[in-house]
Amino acid sequence: MRNWIASGLAAAGMLFSAAVQAEPPLSNHLALTPPMGWSSWNNFAEKINEQLIIETIDAMATNGMQAVGYQYVNLDDGWQRYKGERKDHPLEADPVKFPHGIKYLADYAHSKGLKLGIYSGPGQTTCAGYTGSEGHEAQDAAMFASWGIDHLKYDSCCSHKDAKDEVVKSVFGTMSKALMAQKRGIVLHACHCGWSHIWEWAAALGINHWRIGQDISDDFDYPGNREGYYFDVLDMLDHGVGLEKYAGPGHWNDYDMLIVGLDGKSADLVGAGASNVEYRSHFTLWAIENSPLLASADLRMLDRYTLETFTNPEIIALNQDRLGKPAQRVRSKDGLEVFAKELSDGSWAVALLNRGSTTEDMTFSVHKDLNLGWVKYTVRDLWKHKDMGEFEIPYTAEVISHETRVFRVTEIK
Ligand code: GAL
Repeated sequence: MRNWIASGLAAAGMLFSAAVQAEPPLSNHLALTPPMGWSSWNNFAEKINEQLIIETIDAMATNGMQAVGYQYVNLDDGWQRYKGERKDHPLEADPVKFPHGIKYLADYAHSKGLKLGIYSGPGQTTCAGYTGSEGHEAQDAAMFASWGIDHLKYDSCCSHKDAKDEVVKSVFGTMSKALMAQKRGIVLHACHCGWSHIWEWAAALGINHWRIGQDISDDFDYPGNREGYYFDVLDMLDHGVGLEKYAGPGHWNDYDMLIVGLDGKSADLVGAGASNVEYRSHFTLWAIENSPLLASADLRMLDRYTLETFTNPEIIALNQDRLGKPAQRVRSKDGLEVFAKELSDGSWAVALLNRGSTTEDMTFSVHKDLNLGWVKYTVRDLWKHKDMGEFEIPYTAEVISHETRVFRVTEIK
């Protein structure tokens, strides 16, 4: 049995609330860079089955996604056999949807060098009404481990939306410890929809990522909240401003699944879809904010442009950079925003987002925006895959409506 151990995570030290301080911080030493993979919910909701998961694993292994770092194929809600309260039902896989059981899928994922994730929640029922894990945390953690599960999305949004902080901490802490008591490492995603200031204490409980907001809809910039609830891409981005300091290796702000490629066609996720430019913006922004990159479109039928969006290695490198520092919004005026992020090799990523409706020239200064004393620097355009030259003055680029241009800038010494 691997004991859960006190982590030396100095970075997490600032995160403890008084209540959590009583216990040493926990760490499973996993997810040192944000998890990358796929989740079944946005496109398929409860309509999941063994064949779909096998085909998704095959797609990820062969379409270039695995080669650039995608690893997790995650079953979301709807894999369970029973709807209704846990006190009335055991937690089992639906034998019709998953005739060979979940271990069969985990073995298959592992045989391809990929990982399998699963979903549960701390209540009597999950969000879609299936049996939850309440009162059976140790038993369920052991069952998931015996199946070979690598990632657990533990979703409190329906059962604990209005619960007191102490209760929310306690239910996530219980599952975190139950997972850490297993021999196999299981990444823990605490899905609490951005409530309870979870970012302030989640890392200390050994949670690897936590949602910063309510569910994303398939929209880039929908006026208000769709159905009074959903966040679009820009809502989620705004929600993350100020939370950057809570993220770092092993513990990440989760901006929710990627909507790239859904094209408004998901039968189960609300939203009108976004343009290719907007989806690419969204991908860029999630990458520079070090959000987990969990695709949710049907991987079996991605068009070429969408696949190129998912697999741009230069954008993924910003997300997976071992320094693990999310971008800060360093300037925001009239819908024109500059984001900047330091990288482990001393270079910086700079992103220019145009939220407005017309094309604009946007400029960044390594002195004023990045606060660096560089004299001369190079600029590389990470979507064009092109070196733009050497510069001593601020750099200017044309940014079309809703586009995010992103550059890697490096000092010339
Ligand atoms: C929601 C969650 C979604 C999805 C769904 C499943 O609470 O935010 O991402 O997991 O539950 O029922």
